[in-house]
Amino acid sequence: MLNLEIMPGELGVRPPVTKPHPGFYHQVGEERFRKLVDDHYELIRDSDIAFLFPVNDEEDFQHAKDNAADFFIQICGGPDYFNQHRGAPKMVGRHAPFRIDEPARRRWMEFYATLLPQLAEEGIDEAYVQSFWDYINVFSTWMINTPSK
Ligand code: HEM
Repeated sequence: MLNLEIMPGELGVRPPVTKPHPGFYHQVGEERFRKLVDDHYELIRDSDIAFLFPVNDEEDFQHAKDNAADFFIQICGGPDYFNQHRGAPKMVGRHAPFRIDEPARRRWMEFYATLLPQLAEEGIDEAYVQSFWDYINVFSTWMINTPSK
C-alpha cells in the first residue's frame, strides 16, 4: 500500500533528502512524467495557492510547468534538462521570491497525493511511486520560507 501521509514541515529545518529510485523515471517515461506535472499544475490553477503561480499568463504558466518537469525528470535520473535550460538547480533560492508557508506546501503535496495513486494503477511499481513521494515529502519542506499565519 502506498503511504501518502504528508510529514510536518517546519521553517528553517531541512531534513536529509533521498532521491527517487531511478526505476521510477525508467517506468514512467518522459511523456507520462510531463503529464503528471501538468496535472499537478492544473490542480494548483484552481486552488488557494494559485496566487503564488503565474496563472494569469498562459505562456508563463506553461514555462513554469516545463521547468518543474525538467527538474523532476533530472532529479529522477532522466536527461539533465533543467541544467541545460535553467542552470544549477538552487531550488531553495529559486523559491525565495515566493512566500511559501507550511499550509501552502501541504496543499502542494495534497495535489501529488491525489495524482500518484493513478500511476500505481497504471502499473508503475508501488515502491517506485513511494520513493518519489518520499522524496517530495521531505524536499518540499525545504521550500518553506515563510512562517505560518
Ligand atoms: C519537492 C519540492 C519542490 C520542487 C522540487 C520544486 C521545483 C520547482 C522548480 C524546478 C521550479 C522552477 C524554477 C525555475 O526554473 O526557476 C519551481 C518553481 C516554483 N515553485 Fe516549486 N518545487 C517544489 C515545491 C514547491 C512548493 C511546496 C511550492 C509552494 C506551495 C512551490 C512553488 C513554486 C513557485 C511559486 C514557483 C515559481 C513558478 C513560476 O513563476 O515559474 N514549489 N519549483
